[in-house]
Amino acid sequence: MKSILVTGGAGFIGANFVSMILTEKKGVKVVNLDALTYAGNMENLAKFMNDKNHVFIHGDIRNLELVEKIIGDHKIEGIMNFAAESHVDRSISGPGIFIETNVSGTLNLLQCAKKLGVKRFLQVSTDEVYGSLSTGEDKFSENTSIKPNSPYSASKAAADHLVHAFHHTYGMDTVITRCSNNYGPCQFPEKMIPLCINNIRQGKQIPVYGDGMQVRDWIYVLDHCRAIFTVFEKGISGEVYNIGGNSEKTNLDLVRTLLKLLGKDESLISFVKDRPGHDRRYAIDNSKITNSLGWKPSMTFEQGIASTVDWYLKNKAWLDHVTSGEYQTYYDKMYLGK
Ligand SMILES: NC(=O)c1ccc[n+]([C@@H]2O[C@H](COP(=O)([O-])OP(=O)(O)OC[C@H]3O[C@@H](n4cnc5c(N)ncnc54)[C@H](O)[C@@H]3O)[C@@H](O)[C@H]2O)c1
Repeated sequence: MKSILVTGGAGFIGANFVSMILTEKKGVKVVNLDALTYAGNMENLAKFMNDKNHVFIHGDIRNLELVEKIIGDHKIEGIMNFAAESHVDRSISGPGIFIETNVSGTLNLLQCAKKLGVKRFLQVSTDEVYGSLSTGEDKFSENTSIKPNSPYSASKAAADHLVHAFHHTYGMDTVITRCSNNYGPCQFPEKMIPLCINNIRQGKQIPVYGDGMQVRDWIYVLDHCRAIFTVFEKGISGEVYNIGGNSEKTNLDLVRTLLKLLGKDESLISFVKDRPGHDRRYAIDNSKITNSLGWKPSMTFEQGIASTVDWYLKNKAWLDHVTSGEYQTYYDKMYLGK
């Protein structure tokens, strides 16, 4: 039995990853360390709390003693670091915690992994570290230079540099994945797709930043999770792998698709002041992982988005729960200027 430490496994992608491992992979024990910030949610893991191959630990990746104890107690062979502050808008209003979690937290994990001889360290990163593309410019490849524009992407880029430095300086076995925008079940509704679905179902206006012509390259979360595991198992040490779904959409087109799927018209669209420093376009060239590791996305955007809408409509209690409390205050301040 291989024991892996998954950090941030109560969040959106982490929980989908834990679910994927426990349902699709044999012989893997998942130790799941999550600080349960506003974005972490035990409901995302409800089906797996009694699974003998899943151990959940409530704690912080910045806690050195705790991380060392987990690695020792569970004979951890690999670390997959999903834990992060992940929302660009929050990084604009409060960047400090992004540095603490995304940079210092990653450094802490690297130091523990090095000290205790963990075999492989996988850093879950983002295409946002590459910065922004203009229309017609070549997609991001692994050779594109790093040019992050938001405090969030700057913190993720810093973490990537630390991972590289631990590989280069100490010979640690590391791999980095950089993925485009994910969608799917269990995503906190500060992010665009669940936010739209939640507003549309309640007949509320959908805030669209600026002219809505920003382009994102969407990937279904399960495809991202399978790609991460592929890189963990087969990726070359020290390398970076881009992951993307070949689905570039403008934000406005995405909103129109969601309105159509939910049977509502465009009168719900409300253009709001653009995000400061808003990146215009992200697009991923995923030929490296496709050609060298044999992974490719399994879901078309049309299949994935229909199944995602379906999931949120079937899980209204989940949406109601996560949009109460802190979320409401955040939403009112962010979009209604209250
Ligand atoms: N969402 C995307 O589209 C996307 C795309 C590419 C890469 N990523 C990366 O994937 C990872 C997961 O993203 P997500 O969208 O699932 O984020 P998320 O915000 O939904 O989840 C983050 C999780 O990390 C936990 N966490 C935060 N600080 C922690 C700490 N100090 N110690 C332990 N746990 C902590 C939270 O409780 C939460 O469960 C992040 O590293 C993010 O940068 C996300």
